Amino acid sequence: MSDFGKNTTTDDVLAGKDLSGTTVFVTGGNSGLGQETGRAVAAHGAHVVLAGRDQAKLDAAVAAIKSDHPDAKLETIICDLGSLDGIRACGREAGERFDKIDLLINNAGVMACPFAKTSDGFEMQFGTNHLGHFLLTKCLMPLVEKGSNKRIVNLSSRGHHFAPVDLDDPNFRSREYNEWVSYGQSKTANVLFSVGLEDRFTDKGIHAYAVHPGGIQTNLGRHMTEEQSAALIERISKSDPDFSWKTIPQGAATQVWAATADELEGRGGVYCEDCHVAEVDDESTTGGVRTYALDKGNADRLWTISEEMVGETFTG
Ligand SMILES: NC(=O)c1ccc[n+]([C@@H]2O[C@H](COP(=O)([O-])OP(=O)(O)OC[C@H]3O[C@@H](n4cnc5c(N)ncnc54)[C@H](OP(=O)(O)O)[C@@H]3O)[C@@H](O)[C@H]2O)c1
Repeated sequence: MSDFGKNTTTDDVLAGKDLSGTTVFVTGGNSGLGQETGRAVAAHGAHVVLAGRDQAKLDAAVAAIKSDHPDAKLETIICDLGSLDGIRACGREAGERFDKIDLLINNAGVMACPFAKTSDGFEMQFGTNHLGHFLLTKCLMPLVEKGSNKRIVNLSSRGHHFAPVDLDDPNFRSREYNEWVSYGQSKTANVLFSVGLEDRFTDKGIHAYAVHPGGIQTNLGRHMTEEQSAALIERISKSDPDFSWKTIPQGAATQVWAATADELEGRGGVYCEDCHVAEVDDESTTGGVRTYALDKGNADRLWTISEEMVGETFTG
């Protein structure tokens, strides 16, 4: 087992690794942890596709990475995870432009926004963080099947402790909206999706991982007022007196580790934090994964309702 931990960075994880010939597709590749993931794997020779919904932001991310790594092999693609048609268009374009995807990093996310709906009428956080990635993964799966050492990493969060998925009302149609319950259920969905993927695709050599990156100051807090940010920090500090922010390279380390670690070979459907597989823990406020997030019955029900909502079956 590695001695990686909370302070490990992306470059620590990748030290000595050559990712030449590996294609890495990263959603939310224009900001924060996604951009750092793209930078780090490109620095080790990977061909990187940065996906985002704004070409200008993607271009800025490419310029920033290239300023450090002029030889980085980077491409961009437009993908708005809040639009089923947009996701399908991205999938079609990816099929025309790329031969394969070895590592799919479902990293994009929105946190604690006021109640809003995606173009297709789904609650914004569930719709973007889970359903968007569910359909995108389905659309990209033919490319992933052509990869080698195939892995799918889904960015979850310790915020999954806030709430299980309400499988009867994921879109808050008959319950009052709460931005943290919504974020929590979407991040639980990211873990359950990893469990469902592992179950359906392990026979094809595809493994899936959920990741909590830590607490990192990125653009993720954009929807929070100063008061909400202060309240969140107080809540975190109370539940974890040892809490400290990670740097962005420390924050992106666990997703890069889940995508590349030799010790995870042949083993998926797990939740990782601080560059380790986390223990199941239904009490701790400072770590671990909740039972409801790894439950196969929950994963299967979420899979079924997700297929119904996106209007497509997704089979292994
Ligand atoms: N930072 C933390 O402390 C923390 C903790 C736990 C989990 N996470 C998870 O880590 C992941 C990365 O977050 P981050 O901290 O790097 O945040 P970030 O800097 O805000 O990056 C989020 C990315 O998601 C993209 N995105 C949001 N909505 C989208 C949509 N509809 N379609 C396509 N892309 C969309 C954003 O694009 P735009 O720039 O166009 O908005 C941005 O590229 C998220 O899944 C988050 O839940 C982060």
